[in-house]
Amino acid sequence: MMEKIAELRKKYNLKMRVERYTVYQEDSNDFETVIRKRTATRKFKEEKIDREKLNKILEAGRIAPTAKNLQPQKIYVASSKEALEKIDKVSPCRYNAPTVLIVCSDKEIAWEKEGESTYEMDATIVATHMMLEATNIGVDNIWIKMFDKNKLKEEFKLGENIEPICLIPLGYKAEDYQGNPLHNVRKDLEETVTFI
Ligand SMILES: Cc1cc2nc3c(=O)[nH]c(=O)nc-3n(C[C@H](O)[C@H](O)[C@H](O)COP(=O)(O)O)c2cc1C
Repeated sequence: MMEKIAELRKKYNLKMRVERYTVYQEDSNDFETVIRKRTATRKFKEEKIDREKLNKILEAGRIAPTAKNLQPQKIYVASSKEALEKIDKVSPCRYNAPTVLIVCSDKEIAWEKEGESTYEMDATIVATHMMLEATNIGVDNIWIKMFDKNKLKEEFKLGENIEPICLIPLGYKAEDYQGNPLHNVRKDLEETVTFI
């Protein structure tokens, strides 16, 4: 097993640590509850999330599956005043969140074959893991696509191969936040699923 891992590391120039499965503390929320509870938050309080919670969210992204396990994700945690001001310059959708994850993917690391790359898929799975874990531990969140990609790359001096995929503002919803009216609007399964 370790030989195989060493071979893969060499072949794909991977620098990742190979470690034992991380022991994880279970939370009281079951999965069904979490996926139903998750919803877009568009008004946050100033209150920051603590480092322990942030680490749990990042860890959930770390263990996400990626094509060939190449883990091309690059996550930037924006929480300083300066970084948040930059986010506001490139997106109208921070909604006052005190922390924003900038989820990116390194195109040079992601699996690619015949011009098809999984860089975006990989990063969206990572982002989904983090979003669900945030909900699991009571941290409100939202997925944001509305941002100026080129401006963001420029503001944060991201490398040419680093592709921003989405932003995830994190925090606690404002007391007067009414909730996302679209949250409970979902198509019937018949409209999206075909048994063949
Ligand atoms: C790929 C994607 C992109 C999104 N982009 C934005 C965005 O730029 N701004 C925003 O306010 N909400 C954005 N959202 C939030 C969706 O509008 C929201 O998830 C959807 O209405 C379903 O509601 P719910 O998350 O409360 O269940 C995005 C969600 C997804 C999955």
